[in-house]
Parts: sequence; C-alpha cells; structure tokens
Amino acid sequence: MPRLLRYDSFMENVQEILEWYAEAGVDVLLEDAPINRFDEVPPPPKQKPVSESLAAKRLNDRAPAAPPKQIQQEAAIPDANAIESAKEAAGAANSLEDLKAAMMAFDGCNLKRTAKNLVFADGNPEADIMFIGEAPGRDEDIQGLPFVGRAGQLLDKMLAAIGLDRNSAYISNVIPWRPPGNRTPTPQETEICRPFIERHIELTSPKLIVMLGGSSAKTLLKTSDGIMRLRGNWKEVSVNGVSVKAMPTLHPAYLLRQPAQKRLAWHDLLQIQKVLQDS
Ligand code: URA
Repeated sequence: MPRLLRYDSFMENVQEILEWYAEAGVDVLLEDAPINRFDEVPPPPKQKPVSESLAAKRLNDRAPAAPPKQIQQEAAIPDANAIESAKEAAGAANSLEDLKAAMMAFDGCNLKRTAKNLVFADGNPEADIMFIGEAPGRDEDIQGLPFVGRAGQLLDKMLAAIGLDRNSAYISNVIPWRPPGNRTPTPQETEICRPFIERHIELTSPKLIVMLGGSSAKTLLKTSDGIMRLRGNWKEVSVNGVSVKAMPTLHPAYLLRQPAQKRLAWHDLLQIQKVLQDS
C-alpha cells in the first residue's frame, strides 16, 4: 500500500522544490498560460533566387501564413532599429537624470518586459572610479539597485579592501534590466543596451573603470578575449574618441563560486588602489 505523505511534510517538499527552482533562477512566471513552442511557425526555408514570375507563382500557391502567436506580436523589435533608437535616446540625454528617464521610456529591449525595475546605478556619480558589471540579478531587479545581492556583498568587501565604499565609487551594469532566470544577455540585447552604458560613462567621466567579469570586459573593450586573459592588465575603454583607463577583473559572483581565485582579484585590486592613489 502506498505510503501517505503527511500534509506538513508534503508542504516542506513543495517549499524545497520552489527554493531549488528560485536558486536555479526560475523565479518568474513569464506568461499566464503555457506556450507550446513546437506550435510556433518555423521561419521559411532559405530559397535560391528564382525568376520573378516563378517567385510570384510560389507566393500565390502558398497557404496563407498562420497568424503570429500573441507572444510574437508582443515582442519588442530587437533589431538595428532598436540599436539606432537607443543611440538617439542616449545621445539626447545631457544629464544622468535625462539618461535614466530615457532608459525608462525606452521600449526597444525585450528584457525590459520581464524585469521588475530598471537598475540604473548606485554610489557616487562624481567618484573617480566606476565599477561596471554584467546585468542585474534577482535581488537587484527587486530593489532597482546594482550589486545588492550576495555578489554585491562581496563587491562591498572588495571595495572596502582598497578603502572604497558606495560614497567613493559609482556602480552600474552593461545591461540595466534583469535577463529572465539570470540567463546570459544575447549579443543583440547587449548591442541594444550599449549606447546607454556608453553615454553613462560619458556623463560621469570617471578617471578609472573597473569591468567586473568577462561579459562587461568583452562588451566595453569590444574584444572576444576571455576574462582570464584580460584581467590584471590595464586597458582603455573608448567612447566617442575619449579613452578611460580601465581594469578588467573577476566578477564577485565568480569569486563566490571559486574562492581560490580571490588571490587574482586581490592582485587586480592592489593595482587599482595604486593608480587611484597616484591620480
Ligand atoms: N551581477 C552583476 O553583474 N550585476 C549586478 O548588479 C548583480 C550581479
């Protein structure tokens, strides 16, 4: 006879499963109803150029296209238009308040649709040093502030280790909206968001930039080199012809998973501290 699960231990199991999902990043319900992705219309196969009359005949023969699904209709347009309109919106901003307002009004990035909040920045915009991460996680999305979760707590300790805090440093991310389930932002999403972080750098004009993690370093340095190759070496981040001295280092979330690598981050932090003191 099957063993009956008591209600309270059943609820404990449910709780554990939900916590497990949340830790894995599955903490948002994207749609009210499930979507069967297999029902979605596949893109038409690539065709060789055919003569005009034959092409016209094929078009006429083809069954009428199925109406796009709701989700497809709702998606923002992640294409060159979105990048262009991000450039326009960012370029028109003449202050951080303007930039924040422009980002709040911007609808060209899909990530905004699932995020709870815009995560603009924290710290002192007049600071000499700006730390730039990849994208907000769950806690940042909820609070609307960068680096406030576990990785943020470690970042605060890293700052303190070289005599900094959120009054003497400025903190932001390449991507201002949390990617659902903390997935890696796509290259397209990154390019759509690039004009905003570049304008952010222009408007704050820090003396030094610290890129936290490979994603931030690759985007801002426009390189495909990995963080282990980049870190520990001074680079330049160039925005509209103006260069800012920049250090790529390991992301605090990575250091939480690989504490033995803190040694490398410490080496980078000491270099940052020295340049800050000499500047
Ligand atoms: N990781 C990031 O890159 N940015 C945050 O704000 C939080 C975690």
